[in-house]
Amino acid sequence: MKTRKLGTLEVSAIGLGCMGFTHGYGTCPDEAESIRLIRKAYDEGCTFFDTAEIYSCYKNEELVGKALKPFRHEITISTKFSPVTLPGQENPEGKLSRTGIRQAVEGSLRRLQTDYIDLYLEHRVPQESDPAEVAYWMGELIKEGKIRAWGQSEPTLGQLKAAHAVTPVAAVQSEYSLMERKWEADVIPYCKAEGIGFVAYSPMAGGFLSGKYRNANVFTGDDVRRVITRYSEKNMRANQVLLDLINRYAGEKHCTAAQISLAWTMHPGHIVPIPGMRSDSRILENLGAAGVSITDEEYAAMNEALSRITIHGNRTDEDIAKLGTIEGRQQTVAKAER
Ligand SMILES: NC(=O)c1ccc[n+]([C@@H]2O[C@H](COP(=O)([O-])OP(=O)(O)OC[C@H]3O[C@@H](n4cnc5c(N)ncnc54)[C@H](OP(=O)(O)O)[C@@H]3O)[C@@H](O)[C@H]2O)c1
Repeated sequence: MKTRKLGTLEVSAIGLGCMGFTHGYGTCPDEAESIRLIRKAYDEGCTFFDTAEIYSCYKNEELVGKALKPFRHEITISTKFSPVTLPGQENPEGKLSRTGIRQAVEGSLRRLQTDYIDLYLEHRVPQESDPAEVAYWMGELIKEGKIRAWGQSEPTLGQLKAAHAVTPVAAVQSEYSLMERKWEADVIPYCKAEGIGFVAYSPMAGGFLSGKYRNANVFTGDDVRRVITRYSEKNMRANQVLLDLINRYAGEKHCTAAQISLAWTMHPGHIVPIPGMRSDSRILENLGAAGVSITDEEYAAMNEALSRITIHGNRTDEDIAKLGTIEGRQQTVAKAER
């Protein structure tokens, strides 16, 4: 597997997003199967694994820690601290204070069964917060060896610059795919110029870009695709034109639509996608995208074609929050987490 730099860290060119093993995409595999799949990804060359304290309220980190323990020193773990207070983190100074962050990092270290976190990310940068102050606390944690590097998720360019000036940012983790390109305007070029890695979450747009999802009515339980508007029947039909373009290139290059989508994402050189994948075949297919290269001419031609395509629907935190109020979620979540 080819590798890429995220600041000072070196990771496999494609990482594994571990969220879906406990949350977010409907029924989850049980713990033994999840551990087997995470280890399978490692056996296939993946050395970069992403989790967060908020995923299933700590359970995802516990699972990931267990799965990665046998080869912890051969891999890079990225986890994220939420700006909101989670159960057991009540603190009068607030979550993004020095004590709030210290409490969070100790919890993540314990659950991940490790004494250092490779990449520690602020999981959203609230508008009213001071990115420079958080960056300063991150600098302290780096000096103490509790974390090796740090970054932000979904920062604006201003928030990223303010933080980077205090403690260099190794990576930004934000949504990026053929369906979501807003960061191309500023954050992605800034990262490239500054030697900051860009980790693309939801690089398959929740699977849509694989071309394997045709029907919006199959999603149940805590599956975010029930509320992401790209997955409404109408928008899925309207977005077929994007799949037609991807399929054309997949046909020409003798690979799959999923692989073209990931290869396009990686083309700029400093971007590392972290698809979620919960079957042997998807692990092989998606990691196989590291071997698919798109030439500069093909990339330019794809982008030219993309400029004439309108994407219908989007994926917003506000829509995802609505999932908590949809009937049928609790039952499936409870079943999945047993
Ligand atoms: N920073 C943030 O705010 C943030 C937000 C969201 C996610 N993340 C991180 O990013 C990771 C990836 O995000 P995501 O899970 O939304 O990514 P994604 O890869 O865009 O979507 C995952 C979904 O796509 C399906 N899929 C992936 N590859 C496929 C293929 N080749 N063929 C068919 N279906 C395929 C998966 O199927 P199966 O899993 O069912 O196999 C899963 O249902 C998460 O796990 C998490 O670690 C971060």
